[in-house]
Amino acid sequence: MLDNYNRKLNYLRISVTDRCNLRCTYCMPEGGVPLLLHKDILTFEEIKAVAEEAVTMGVDKVRITGGEPLVRKGITILIEMLASIKGIKDLSMTTNGILLEDFASELKNKGLNRINISLDTMDAEKFKKITRGGDIEKVKAGIIAARKVGLFPIKINCVINDSKEENDAREVNVFCEQNGLEVRFIHQMNLKTGHFAIVEGGDGGDCENCNRLRLTADGKIKPCLFNNLEFDIRKMGISEALQAAANQKPKCGSFNGINNFNNIGG
Ligand code: 5AD
Ligand code: SF4
Repeated sequence: MLDNYNRKLNYLRISVTDRCNLRCTYCMPEGGVPLLLHKDILTFEEIKAVAEEAVTMGVDKVRITGGEPLVRKGITILIEMLASIKGIKDLSMTTNGILLEDFASELKNKGLNRINISLDTMDAEKFKKITRGGDIEKVKAGIIAARKVGLFPIKINCVINDSKEENDAREVNVFCEQNGLEVRFIHQMNLKTGHFAIVEGGDGGDCENCNRLRLTADGKIKPCLFNNLEFDIRKMGISEALQAAANQKPKCGSFNGINNFNNIGG
């Protein structure tokens, strides 16, 4: 599907949960956020139906996000359901890596192609501070497991404050070079103030070439991360919500006063 600015929308990012086993300072307030009610969370059947419809409209690339997607119960079943859709050429996931050691092999077996893992520092104490309690060793074990089962390419998302020359970013870069990982540096963003920037080494944040639509865990199609617009699949119907999102995708992001990273998945 094309939008009104002739951008081809072929990439759907699916948030499968608003829950997370970490509390990264730039993503969540310390006490967490009010969580979605169970009845409002899409079932796997509903998610699959959205993906199928999106594929008929030209989507061929799907990413699973959260919150943290690996905390959604039965997630590998969903991966299997999505992998069975002909027309999805690229099925990927963004994870914080904490549970990845346990899941890597099954994710690969069920048809996940590749994985992005968040890692902002190589310093265990600092990692614990940024994530409010996370164990960096678990993430490293997850990366090794992903490599072992062949979830290639493995990309590392590294959130930076100022530049990729800052210490933590340089150390993450060295780790990636040593371990055959691609790294993308993401400037810390603020949805509420509309502070966003192009991802270095990736293609997020480049409005002119944006090919994305998003599906939230509670069934809203969002045409832009930095915009309040959303179209409810349960109220409007799936194809109507997708079409409305494509037709109303803004030329450029501005700000988003209603979502947080934890429920839209970055
Ligand atoms: N700014 C930039 N990136 C963010 N992420 C979460 N919150 C922010 C923010 N405020 C990114 C994390 C993770 C992905 C899921 O979203 O780096 O890799
Ligand atoms: Fe969880 Fe990712 Fe948000 Fe960190 S950035 S709290 S890992 S969803």
